Amino acid sequence: MTKLEQASALDRVGDRLQRAVLATLRPQRVRDLLHGVFLGHPLHPAMVQVPVGAWISAAVLDLMPGQRRAATTLIGVGTVGALPAAIAGLNDWAALSRDQRRVGLVHAASNTVGLALYAGSLAARLRGRHGTGRALAYLGLTAASAGAYLGGHLAYKQGAQVNQSVSELHRMSDGWHSLADLAALPQRKLITREVDDDVSVILYRHGDEVTVMLERCPHQSGPLGEGEVTEIDGHTCVVCPWHGSAFRLNGGEVVHGPSANDQQILPTRVVDGVLQTRLP
Ligand code: FES
Repeated sequence: MTKLEQASALDRVGDRLQRAVLATLRPQRVRDLLHGVFLGHPLHPAMVQVPVGAWISAAVLDLMPGQRRAATTLIGVGTVGALPAAIAGLNDWAALSRDQRRVGLVHAASNTVGLALYAGSLAARLRGRHGTGRALAYLGLTAASAGAYLGGHLAYKQGAQVNQSVSELHRMSDGWHSLADLAALPQRKLITREVDDDVSVILYRHGDEVTVMLERCPHQSGPLGEGEVTEIDGHTCVVCPWHGSAFRLNGGEVVHGPSANDQQILPTRVVDGVLQTRLP
């Protein structure tokens, strides 16, 4: 797997595919929908439940007598359901780092082979060739399982589409932490501070209200403190300088992907004119 992460030979194909995906999946609203911004979680892992569930169920039914029709129906449901799941996956993939994209490319290739085999299985079954249909389906399940293994590596080892900022909370100690004199904080300007000398947060003052938010972007740890503050749909948002994810400064909700996760806001209080924060 490490060799695959480092396989630069995949980059030519990967870079071309990335450009094609970014040029095709437009506008931003469509991309946000496919990332799962409306859910607050990535959409792709939820969508793959349809093909995976249908195909595994069909594999069980194929072992039982008198279940041809049911198995064919499930193969059809899984094959059709795989298409939107694949599009959502490609959309996420296009905003990953290079090493993640290499593994993601092979993940997508395995699943494409699996999908083609299942499409062949469906066609054979509809022509009454159930033996061929069964064989193709088991080959498809093998290819899709290899794809699932690679998807697991992407998510759990390489942290693709996993909230990259939440681990910051585990490094913050309990209790209130002083950040700055409130009177000295400029209006409507992003300020970066450290909590426990280690956890970076951004401060944004608007009147007497101050937002304190983790600085590491949930998508790929981009520095939100270097981001732009802008109005989106009437809300003041910070836009990540790396891939453009946008988060509301008054609540942390994600407004635009590729992040599908909200950003963590921290509680605040002012004691003797000093702004303090703590764990939520
Ligand atoms: S790191 Fe990718 S959008 Fe922030």
